Amino acid sequence: MSRKPTQGSGGQANNSAGIYCFMDIVAKQAEEYAADHTSPMSSLLEEVEHFTLTRTPYPSMLTGRVEGRFLQLAVQLSSAKHVVEIGTFTGYSALAMAEVLPHDGKILTIEHNSHHAKIAQNFFDRSSRGFKITLCIGEALEILKTLPDARTDLVFIDADKRNYSAYYRESMRILRNGGLILADNVLWYGRIFDPKDDDSQAMADFNELVKADDRAEKLFLTIRDGIYLIRKRVSVE
Ligand SMILES: C[S@@+](CC[C@H](N)C(=O)[O-])C[C@H]1O[C@@H](n2cnc3c(N)ncnc32)[C@H](O)[C@@H]1O
Repeated sequence: MSRKPTQGSGGQANNSAGIYCFMDIVAKQAEEYAADHTSPMSSLLEEVEHFTLTRTPYPSMLTGRVEGRFLQLAVQLSSAKHVVEIGTFTGYSALAMAEVLPHDGKILTIEHNSHHAKIAQNFFDRSSRGFKITLCIGEALEILKTLPDARTDLVFIDADKRNYSAYYRESMRILRNGGLILADNVLWYGRIFDPKDDDSQAMADFNELVKADDRAEKLFLTIRDGIYLIRKRVSVE
């Protein structure tokens, strides 16, 4: 399993503000200010966050309040109904999106680690919106390949970095025209500027792949560890 690098020298947890600072490229003060000026999440999501920060060894894998709100707004503003998430972890981002999807909306979230999946499913079962979430346990790329063309409204890519480019290709296939991809960690802690390991090189390659793809409109956002917001063009030539 590919994990996010351990926290940098500026890293520290701040549970009360609902964020986890672990980078040096976005100032900790700015991260805290952004979280403080972002609407709080539901009590169940705060519980997922607290559980993840205190009971798992990889708290920095959690998206948290600012990115969670961003995902919710992306779902709401795009009127998405069919969402695919690659990388469930403890279920925070899937649950955040489920909370704002319409009643007949659906999320398929994919996780290959059965321990993570069990934690997430327990939280989904406790949510009144959990019925919208289907948790699929397995290798994300294999599962993506079974999904039909052009039926998905939004894909959130947040799993192993070496497969990001392959996830992107499959995501473009399953997305309807005008659909959105949100790819997390595209700054990869600043390591994309001078890649020295396979994950960093994979993220740098992914960013170039997206940049060069004429089928998409893209916006590289410096929120948290970087989010690439990509829209499949309505008319693809
Ligand atoms: C960064 S975490 C996801 C965080 C989650 N989206 C959230 O916001 O709380 C990445 C997850 O992807 C899972 N994962 C990594 N490689 C995978 C793969 N090849 N197939 C499926 N899941 C994978 C990991 O086990 C981990 O739980």
